[in-house]
Amino acid sequence: MWSQIIAASWAFTACAAAPLLARNFPAGQCVVDVKIETCGDFNCKLDGYHRIDAFLTQRIEANEIKVIEEGKEAPEGTGWYPAPHSAHEGVTDQGGPTLWSRRDYDLQQAGKVVDLVVVRPGRWANSTEDFVRSSVNLGLGEAAGAVAFEDYREYDSVSSGWIYLEYTVAGPRDPITDVQVVACSGDSVGAHCGNELLGKGWKRRDTDLNGPTANGSHIYIFTTTQLQTNRECVTSLKVVDDENDKTVSVNLNDGTTGDELYLEVTKARDEDCITSIRPIDTSRYFAEPWYDVVTDSNGQPADVNAGIGSADPIFIYTSKLVERPRKEPIKLSFSSDGTFRIALFSDLHHSHHSAICRDVPEQIEADCSEEYSFAFMGAVLDHTEPDLVVIDGDLYAENDRKQDKTTYPQLTDGAIVKAIRPIIERGIPFAVTYGNHDAEGSLLREEIQRAMDIQPGFVGSRGLNQLDGIGNYKLDITKSKDSEDIAHRLWFFDSRSYTYFGNGTNSGDYGRVEQSQVDWYSANADASINAMAFFHIPVAQISDAIGLNTTARIGVHGESVCPQGNGCSNTPKLDDPYVSLFDAFVNAGDVKATFSGHDHSNDYIIEAQGIQLTYDGSAGYTAYSAGDANYNREMRVIDVAEHGKTVSTFKIIDDILAGTVHRNESEPIVTLF
Ligand SMILES: *[C@@H]1O[C@H](CO)[C@@H](O)[C@H](O)[C@H]1NC(C)=O
Ligand SMILES: *[C@@H]1O[C@H](CO)[C@@H](O)[C@H](O)[C@H]1NC(C)=O
Ligand SMILES: *[C@@H]1O[C@H](CO)[C@@H](O)[C@H](O)[C@H]1NC(C)=O
Ligand SMILES: *[C@@H]1O[C@H](CO)[C@@H](O)[C@H](O)[C@H]1NC(C)=O
Ligand SMILES: *[C@@H]1O[C@H](CO)[C@@H](O)[C@H](O)[C@H]1NC(C)=O
Repeated sequence: MWSQIIAASWAFTACAAAPLLARNFPAGQCVVDVKIETCGDFNCKLDGYHRIDAFLTQRIEANEIKVIEEGKEAPEGTGWYPAPHSAHEGVTDQGGPTLWSRRDYDLQQAGKVVDLVVVRPGRWANSTEDFVRSSVNLGLGEAAGAVAFEDYREYDSVSSGWIYLEYTVAGPRDPITDVQVVACSGDSVGAHCGNELLGKGWKRRDTDLNGPTANGSHIYIFTTTQLQTNRECVTSLKVVDDENDKTVSVNLNDGTTGDELYLEVTKARDEDCITSIRPIDTSRYFAEPWYDVVTDSNGQPADVNAGIGSADPIFIYTSKLVERPRKEPIKLSFSSDGTFRIALFSDLHHSHHSAICRDVPEQIEADCSEEYSFAFMGAVLDHTEPDLVVIDGDLYAENDRKQDKTTYPQLTDGAIVKAIRPIIERGIPFAVTYGNHDAEGSLLREEIQRAMDIQPGFVGSRGLNQLDGIGNYKLDITKSKDSEDIAHRLWFFDSRSYTYFGNGTNSGDYGRVEQSQVDWYSANADASINAMAFFHIPVAQISDAIGLNTTARIGVHGESVCPQGNGCSNTPKLDDPYVSLFDAFVNAGDVKATFSGHDHSNDYIIEAQGIQLTYDGSAGYTAYSAGDANYNREMRVIDVAEHGKTVSTFKIIDDILAGTVHRNESEPIVTLF
């Protein structure tokens, strides 16, 4: 059950939005590039760059790397050390990686500024879709820094101590100027396929087009944005089976029993350029609305694995989006009859690759796929017509196919698309919290948040930089469409992943909402506004042993409770600081009910000190259910009425053997308050 921590580091955001930068940099200049260089000593200089004396090989525990003005004191804190520092563990005795930033007025005018920097352990891709990776490995040589990633090493078959700094820029995306396909077999396993191109301006799209189930070569698409002399960019891709039409000569089905397939790449001068290409392994084709699926010669979506035995379908998508889509703010308000309905789903556990179903009745086992989760969500959304959808964490989770980590790298990209697709297809506003599994794949919380931020209908937000976790925010529901009066409030907290000792060792306990988040909540809570709170990992008070009145419990207690700051047990510890969130709710008096997922086989409601602590139940067919093969996937409807004064809830189950989706009539509709 345990996995690794991934260091997520915020550095700075787009110039205009970042008071930190506005204060620290001369007016009109923004960070447009970030570099890491290894230096022999601390006096090294890099022309045109400003040096930030961050001590990069120290253990990084999701701390910030801050950019401050040259000559100013570095703030205290782990991960941020003033130079010079003689005891530079890890890389060399003298010097080591130094972080540089470049400020530029002209590039900023062109809308290109660095808006996010992350530090993360090395993975299969040297760069992700949006991110540029520095070439310096911060964790090389079993640095002290690697200690924090001890669990990660066990998890990642490829690397040990690979820690890179990556950044991404806001502003127009560069057109893709060329595409090539690389096939590898034998010792040249998936994760290393085409590595020689990386660092030469090529990026690998990290899906093996033959899929792990196709038995052939590893096939990767590489793209570059380096302008060629003829100034042409890629304007379309097509999958063709006629060798004469091919532009890219590698057979996409190399080594498999499938027909020969090739990519036909159309290029033209400076118009209608493709800016993004991504393959997603899925039981049917979809991606965000601004992506188009690559078709075959008949104009049909091209499953590049079609016809190869039982191989997973893989579709390729392209986007011509130049700027990230702008979104109109969405206002949440009560209907004229004073009601507001929330559809709550948790623990979908999607994968980038089509995943294996877990703990399902044997009658559906052979046929079961992620498609079942999409169908359940879709049916519920059509039936209940909610005003807001909440996904309460673990949109992504590594799947049972993880045992083959080389050919099934744990990618997050497609999982996120899958989790939210039934919602964005229907145009419903939605919010999310992140769970302990969400950042265990290829994307950090920061990157998932970044992907979420541009989704149509997404009303969540990152929250304040200085708080622990990503996605601490509140949503206010106004009395009516035309009113600004706040009638009800929804709080969202990041209960994070796991808990670590100061030395970076996994403590064996789950994550928790930290004091910084609790303080933010306490400072902003208003007892006069009824509120509810959503966070993935429940507070310990949800255990019967603590809530005590077991006769008042409604719903199933099917497995032990694995609450914040604890391992799994029915008698969790309540020592400070683990319970501070609950205490803050009691003290502030606004939160009347909380909703959490995490323990898939628990779906009960229990009251503690006047607060209704509620489990969501799990909706994902690819998620475990404590080994109960007859467990029904379920979700919760939350009906807010009387303009926020009262709230009731009931569960909808996917009665998969009966082929119906309906309310669990064995339970009453529960009035929470
Ligand atoms: C890309 O990452 C792999 C490890 O995953 C590493 O072996 C290779 O050297 C990296 N390439 C570059 C150019 O950094
Ligand atoms: C891959 O090979 C195995 C063993 O030969 C076979 O059972 C399986 O059906 C093959 N998969 C595909 C998709 O052809
Ligand atoms: C890290 O700290 C914990 C708690 O103090 C301790 O139990 C553990 O042995 C330490 N591990 C290492 C590798 O120092
Ligand atoms: C427990 O809850 C039940 C149902 O709400 C109630 O009837 C009973 O009085 C409660 N018992 C205690 C000890 O509070
Ligand atoms: C319906 O609710 C009852 C009472 O909580 C529970 O025992 C039962 O397992 C639920 N049924 C399904 C199919 O989830």
